Amino acid sequence: MAFLKTAVAAVVAAMLGAPAVGAQDTVKVGLILPMTGPFTSTGKQIEAAARLYIAQNGSTVAGKKVEVILKDDGGNADATRRLAQELLVNDKVNFLAGFGLTPLALAVAPLATQAKVPEVVMAAGTSIITERSPYIVRTSFTVPQSCVIVADWAAKNNIKKVVTIVTDYAPGHDAEKSFKDRFVEVGGQVISELRVPLQNPDFAPFLQRAADAKPDALFVFVPSGVGAIVMKQFIERGLDKAGMKLIGPGDITDDDILNGLGDAALGVITAHFYATAHPSEKNKAYVEAFTKANPGMRPNFMSVGGYDGMHLIYEALKKTNGATEGDALINAMKGMKWESPRGPISIDPETRDIVQNIYVRKVEKVGGELHNVEFATFEAVKDPVKAAKK
Ligand code: PHB
Repeated sequence: MAFLKTAVAAVVAAMLGAPAVGAQDTVKVGLILPMTGPFTSTGKQIEAAARLYIAQNGSTVAGKKVEVILKDDGGNADATRRLAQELLVNDKVNFLAGFGLTPLALAVAPLATQAKVPEVVMAAGTSIITERSPYIVRTSFTVPQSCVIVADWAAKNNIKKVVTIVTDYAPGHDAEKSFKDRFVEVGGQVISELRVPLQNPDFAPFLQRAADAKPDALFVFVPSGVGAIVMKQFIERGLDKAGMKLIGPGDITDDDILNGLGDAALGVITAHFYATAHPSEKNKAYVEAFTKANPGMRPNFMSVGGYDGMHLIYEALKKTNGATEGDALINAMKGMKWESPRGPISIDPETRDIVQNIYVRKVEKVGGELHNVEFATFEAVKDPVKAAKK
């Protein structure tokens, strides 16, 4: 805490001593992402999508040149905080963006507040994040947005008893609670709740305990980057064949890894806000451009958080005619609506959080590749946790 106070004080001192606007003709976006370590896929997806947006829309907006300064935090919150501080003090960035995991987004919240610089959260999904600073706006998702839809689907499809397995940190706790609250409300029962460590997870013993409890389905939340491990261990133990259904938010059938999982992944039902196979013209063009610019990569749900985050930055600058004062930018972002590759989205003017469709999907083979194929749509879903607080 003492460190944090010193860091905040240093940022404020530096900002006060700075000229009103740094380089008048340049807008700087400090993009902090995990480009190394277990969550590299999130960093790569978001960087690729942000660069694609700039390539498609030009690097000048409202008469200003947009400069992205990319920093790798390796998924470590102390590094994120230090990098954000350097970007504010040395580079005088006008936006902080990225944030691959919840602890990384939270670490920067006090700095964004003190410096009055917008923090655009392009990945992290815990509900509370946007409440930690009036300068935070989110273009990714909230984990509960998908979990309540999974609970409704399960109850309607004859699933009565469920074991939950979640990664043991804030978004996992959000997943566990939001799924259970809704599932119990609609008549289901959660017979066991298991939590797996974030670092070096081994799901095998947890999967065995879950199987021993003989539920109708296993609900699993793991962050993007970890999906392959849990899916492989589920399949290796033959749990798919034992008749236990696997359900959860779409992080477990992440499009980035899905095709590598093999046919055992067929039939897995998830709810989520984006699938590479989302059947809109906008998305077809997005997938084509993304794969062309990044051969061998499939855009996943993290990528659209980065793409839409850049869109939000561009449109806010257009609205302020290039002015970079933090309050003006945040006001410009509130209530903004547009069509994303994922479908129609908006920024809730009250919470600065994303409002988006949630789709129920099933893993199927399309053109020889595994895809999340959407079969039901829930429109304009707000974060259910914040909605319940009202
Ligand atoms: C998070 O840390 O908030 C997080 C990261 C990856 C996900 C979901 C949530 O897939």
